[in-house]
Amino acid sequence: MTNPPIPTIPTIPVMRPWLGEEEATAAAEVVRSGWVAQGPRVAEFERLFAAQVGASTGVAVSSCTTGLHLMLHVLGVGPGDEVIVPSHSFIATANAVRYTGAFPVFADVSPVTGNLTPQTVEPVLSPRTRAVMVVHQGGIPADVPALRALCGPRGIPVVEDAACAAGATFGGRPVGAGALLAAWSFHPRKLLTTGEGGMVTTDDPEWAARMRRLREHGMSVSAADRHAAGGAVVEEYGETGFNYRMTDLQAAIGLVQLRKLGAMVARRRELAARYQAALAGVAGVRFAQDPPGGTTNYQSFWVLLPDGYPGSRNDVLAALVARGVSARRGIMASHLESAYAEHPGGPLPVTELLSGRSLILPLYHDLSEPDQDRVIAGLLAVLSGAGVP
Ligand SMILES: Cc1ncc(COP(=O)(O)O)c(C=O)c1O
Repeated sequence: MTNPPIPTIPTIPVMRPWLGEEEATAAAEVVRSGWVAQGPRVAEFERLFAAQVGASTGVAVSSCTTGLHLMLHVLGVGPGDEVIVPSHSFIATANAVRYTGAFPVFADVSPVTGNLTPQTVEPVLSPRTRAVMVVHQGGIPADVPALRALCGPRGIPVVEDAACAAGATFGGRPVGAGALLAAWSFHPRKLLTTGEGGMVTTDDPEWAARMRRLREHGMSVSAADRHAAGGAVVEEYGETGFNYRMTDLQAAIGLVQLRKLGAMVARRRELAARYQAALAGVAGVRFAQDPPGGTTNYQSFWVLLPDGYPGSRNDVLAALVARGVSARRGIMASHLESAYAEHPGGPLPVTELLSGRSLILPLYHDLSEPDQDRVIAGLLAVLSGAGVP
């Protein structure tokens, strides 16, 4: 005798990329073309993505992490240098600094945006500070002009980890417009995805040209250009490079995704407004919102549990899972991971508060309103069960 199936509640995921037939067709066309490595689609994706974020050049790479590494590398960051980063970020931000041999120095963040500010960066500046790497965390744009006002007179470049920020704006311009160097992610957890993939954008043609060589083993002429030239072109290797290339398969998908970016941001902002309306009346709860002067793309919608919440954030996550809702812990605190255990430095109370007491709710393009209502009802039930009115 077989047991009857155990009824399960369908789980609402925290994120689902918005992919369809158009992306599948675009990838199939690349396969049929016979050129699947870095080629003409990568070049077109670079051009259109850079234009979208208000930069003059894009250099496509294999991930945001490799992009972060490349941009620090072309700045000349190396052993003995310090780079100020938020601990309140995915660990790749700090790791990229270590790849160069430099030392990541953690600064605390604003409790409202989760981002670096001049007030949190200034106390950790030192004569060894070689760069500040600001993160637009969860798509909430950081106030880069304010950081530049602090760092510019000291000769310290401000570069941007814009992994989450495609489609966010600050000061009426897209995040990325006017950036010295900004690195972007196309991992499926982001709005726009190519599976894996990234891009560095800049207005500096020399940095762009050098990053193009560095991503391809330091080659003076790319494989695609040698192929296009037809004749016998012999490349040279002037410095040690990396293999950080994006493929044309990825770029073809990215080109379709890019056309959808406006719709993705609009839908996320609509869904975020529904979360905000539902949570506005809950005592002491805070959540992601537009910062002064900017608009977020709501890459992540985080909720911070009230002060004195009687249970743990992880209990809330578990209670949501029991209701068929897959939420996630908030943004990590990199300095609390054992990879950074040896890390000296001052206290990071806001980072620890945000990281320890926040959770990320499901938010994706085709999240239906009834499913979102299930998430809201589940969260409100868990909170009121813990005595939060
Ligand atoms: C802020 C931040 N930086 C860097 C990364 C790394 O991106 P990738 O997975 O494309 O290397 C992520 C990915 O989650 C991120 O959120």
